[in-house]
Parts: sequence; structure tokens; C-alpha cells
Amino acid sequence: MALPQTLIDEFNTLVSHYPERRAGLIPALHRCQEELGGWLSPQTIEDLAAFFGLEPVEVFGVATFYPMFRLTPRGKHLVSVCHNISCTLRGGEELLTHVCKVTGAPVGGTSPDGKFSVVRVECQGACANAPMFDLDGVYHEDLDPSKAEKILRSAP
Ligand code: FES
Repeated sequence: MALPQTLIDEFNTLVSHYPERRAGLIPALHRCQEELGGWLSPQTIEDLAAFFGLEPVEVFGVATFYPMFRLTPRGKHLVSVCHNISCTLRGGEELLTHVCKVTGAPVGGTSPDGKFSVVRVECQGACANAPMFDLDGVYHEDLDPSKAEKILRSAP
């Protein structure tokens, strides 16, 4: 098993809070993604399956069901551009196109330099200040292409 001992210790505590061991899988997927490079590798899927006493395909099924889990490496920065109605009506598609142009990353992909990944996301609850994107967990609202470019170019 390649999981770090710190995660194994954490998961042992985690599963002690649930009546069934497998109930800790989703929090464990989150923690692995946070601690192991921002994505879930095939090895991580296998390690989690072994830890939880599941088949790898069961872990894979959970990881692929939820859009917050990533099964491919992502860039240093993640740009999540909202594409729901309020953002779309206020220029969200143009914003997304510009984000891809500035970062060099296609939608759902990563820039060649590995600096940015860009994804479409559902409503982020910031409709009153549409359009918006989330850069590494920080909301940026009332965006236009110029504002977005300035924010993206200032990312280290
Ligand atoms: S539609 Fe974009 S934040 Fe709600």
C-alpha cells in the first residue's frame, strides 16, 4: 500500500465513527485528493479499495460519480468557471473562452505548462454577481474578460 501512514492513521480514526467501514470512503477520497497532488491516481484507487475492503471498481465508481473528484492530474491552479443561467446570461461563455485563451488550457484540461486547469461548474451561489469563476477556492465575481485576465496573470 502506497498511502502515507498519516493518511492511514487518519482513515482508521475516520472509519471508527461509522457503523460500516465503507461509509468513510467519500471523506477519504477528498483527503487523498487534497494530500496526493490534487487528483486520484489508479494507485490511490487501489490503495483505498484495499483499505476499505472493496474492489477497485467500486472505489472507481464512487470517484467517477461525483464531479469534485479528479482522475487525471490537474494544473497548479484550478479555474472553475460557472456555466449556469445567470452567469451565461451575463457573459459566462465569453468569460470561459477568454479564460481558456489566457491560460492555454482547454475546458476540462490543463495548460501545456501545467500551470492551469479549467473546468465548467454548476451554479456556485454567486448569481447576483455573475459571471464568476473560482480560482483555487476563491470566488472572483462581476467578471469581464479584462478583469479575469488580470486575476489569472497575477497567479504565481
Ligand atoms: S449561475 Fe453562476 S453563480 Fe449562479
